[in-house]
Amino acid sequence: MNVTNTIEAVRAMRWQNPTATWGLVPTMGYLHEGHISLVRRARAENDFVAATIYVNPAQFAPTEDLSSYPRDLARDLALLQDAGADLVFTPDNALMYPAGFQTFVTVEGVTAVLEGAARPTHFRGVTTIVAKLFNIVQPTRAYFGQKDFQQTVVTRRMIADLNFNLEFIVCPTVREADGLALSSRNTYLTPPQRAAATVLSRALAQGIVLLNAGERDGDALRQAMTAVIAAEPLARLDYLSAADPLTLAELAQVGEMALLSTAVFVGKTRLIDNMPWPSLTAVTGGQ
Ligand code: PAF
Repeated sequence: MNVTNTIEAVRAMRWQNPTATWGLVPTMGYLHEGHISLVRRARAENDFVAATIYVNPAQFAPTEDLSSYPRDLARDLALLQDAGADLVFTPDNALMYPAGFQTFVTVEGVTAVLEGAARPTHFRGVTTIVAKLFNIVQPTRAYFGQKDFQQTVVTRRMIADLNFNLEFIVCPTVREADGLALSSRNTYLTPPQRAAATVLSRALAQGIVLLNAGERDGDALRQAMTAVIAAEPLARLDYLSAADPLTLAELAQVGEMALLSTAVFVGKTRLIDNMPWPSLTAVTGGQ
């Protein structure tokens, strides 16, 4: 496995064999089984696999956890090596945002709601860095996790609108045995908060149960899920949504599919989770 912090080295390796297929897994490091599942899928579907590790300041608001975001490069590299990555790109801020940098990629519409409403500068940072990584690596396929569902909707929009020449693949959320979605931010939780954090998946699962039982009223679904979160004393609801998985607009009535999603503060830690209905494959059209 090659590890580099230069664009030249990435491009040299990428174009050694122009017909080879490349899978890209962009990450902010502090890897867990969710990230590794993306690397394994990329390994199975491509000749070469590149991962990137970069904590992108442009996607954090000044009030957010950029400085405390967990980092462990040595452990990340060992995990990536085990999972079969060929190349790891670890740029620094001076390389990604050099003096004079003034170009940002902004997706409108689908960034206005949910995470975008709560974190107004977040997606501009995500799409800018993802566009840069796509241009640097020029992958055949890019692998993103369902856990950040809105990020996948926004990125898919950017790929289509800016004609990036790659296949976009969304892989299922990996969960702890008790349902908590894996996240690098779970490390912030104290033991009582960790126990309380299952409230996100419990609320969403309650919504899925109701959908499977025939409930189609958006407000009824949102109220039932909100009640689960309200019953957890350590949790404070940020938003809860039953939306169209393509437009992310809130649904008055559920038709053929829905995205249930939530953001909840457990202590000071803000956690997000989602469950697509009837399935991830159905709402992403198989990708
Ligand atoms: O999902 C993440 O970890 C980040 O938003 C990404 C896609 C690596 C861009 O910084």
